[in-house]
Amino acid sequence: MATEEHKRLADVVKRTHSLLRVECHRYGAKIAWDRHVARNDVLQEYAESMQKLATKYWTENNSKNGTYCRMEWIKLQCKEYFLNGGEEKFYNREQDIKRKMTLEKSSIAEDQQFENNQILMENKSQNFHNQRISILDVGSCYNPLNVDDTFNVTAIDLIPAVEGVFQCDFLNVDIGRENIFSSDMKKIYQLQTDTFDAVIFSLLLEYLPCPKQRYVCCKNAYNVLKSGGILIIVSPDSNHIGANAKLMKSWRYTLSKLGFMRIKYEKLRHIHCLVFRKCVCKDVGVRWADLQQFSENDKRYISEIEIFIPQDFQTISFKEKQEKINYVETEVANTFSELPFDNETS
Ligand SMILES: C[S@@+](CC[C@H](N)C(=O)[O-])C[C@H]1O[C@@H](n2cnc3c(N)ncnc32)[C@H](O)[C@@H]1O
Repeated sequence: MATEEHKRLADVVKRTHSLLRVECHRYGAKIAWDRHVARNDVLQEYAESMQKLATKYWTENNSKNGTYCRMEWIKLQCKEYFLNGGEEKFYNREQDIKRKMTLEKSSIAEDQQFENNQILMENKSQNFHNQRISILDVGSCYNPLNVDDTFNVTAIDLIPAVEGVFQCDFLNVDIGRENIFSSDMKKIYQLQTDTFDAVIFSLLLEYLPCPKQRYVCCKNAYNVLKSGGILIIVSPDSNHIGANAKLMKSWRYTLSKLGFMRIKYEKLRHIHCLVFRKCVCKDVGVRWADLQQFSENDKRYISEIEIFIPQDFQTISFKEKQEKINYVETEVANTFSELPFDNETS
């Protein structure tokens, strides 16, 4: 049985998501977001509730139900990729695809660029064991990844729940030649391009009410990642693996168009877990998308500049009817009930 406190914390999280969604319908994404980030008290209460839910109640439920913790999954993927040969394996795969593409259409400039990238890659793999894996944890909240000496974590959030997390809105952060911090070193105004080995979105994308905003976050992740770096996405869904397969394919399509190659997908009991590699040669990533064909029906899930989640479609189809909008808002609020950690609150 869930305790009163567990229910109260889950309600704070659901209410915040619901309010943002409702305002996005009402005022549009930009105004709704500006209003949202200006509500310091709401964000603060959310951060404290989220931290307590995740570190106390969800952890207890995970160990009781034998559910695999998303943070453990993320750390394992980083180690497998950077320390146990994953990067080299996927570099070679990329190289094979590039060779095939070169046979189809060869240009001297492209060949030269690929040779240069290969030298870069060889230097990099020699260095890997000597340095910590640099991670940008977006929407970190309580900095759950900062527990392992293997990683050098830069944790950012709209409102930090703990010391050491920088305040930064990843949707609106500048990306440029260097990191720029506030004078008290609590905020990040600008992130440097091509700097991180891994970017983590754990339960981040569904926080954002609009498909275009989710895309902007993925694009920003692409820009701050090094070549060959990885974007790890964890997204809640308690349905069976096939239920949202079309959406998973559409994410792959959109990210592929950005220059990512999907290198891992696992459906655990309550979450989708995905790893995308920023290709050394962007056109290798794009190639997968270009080879896909979609039926007329499936095309509504496909966009080069939007990342959809199931709620986007419920919202559109029920837009006109007020009573159904109410239904949709309840569904959205319940997104987080699908997480393992919240099973016993309903
Ligand atoms: C559901 S919590 C997930 C917390 C943690 N990553 C986890 O898996 O337990 C989502 C977090 O993303 C943060 N967030 C949402 N949009 C953001 C943005 N644009 N920039 C930075 N953080 C954001 C929220 O403030 C919130 O703390």
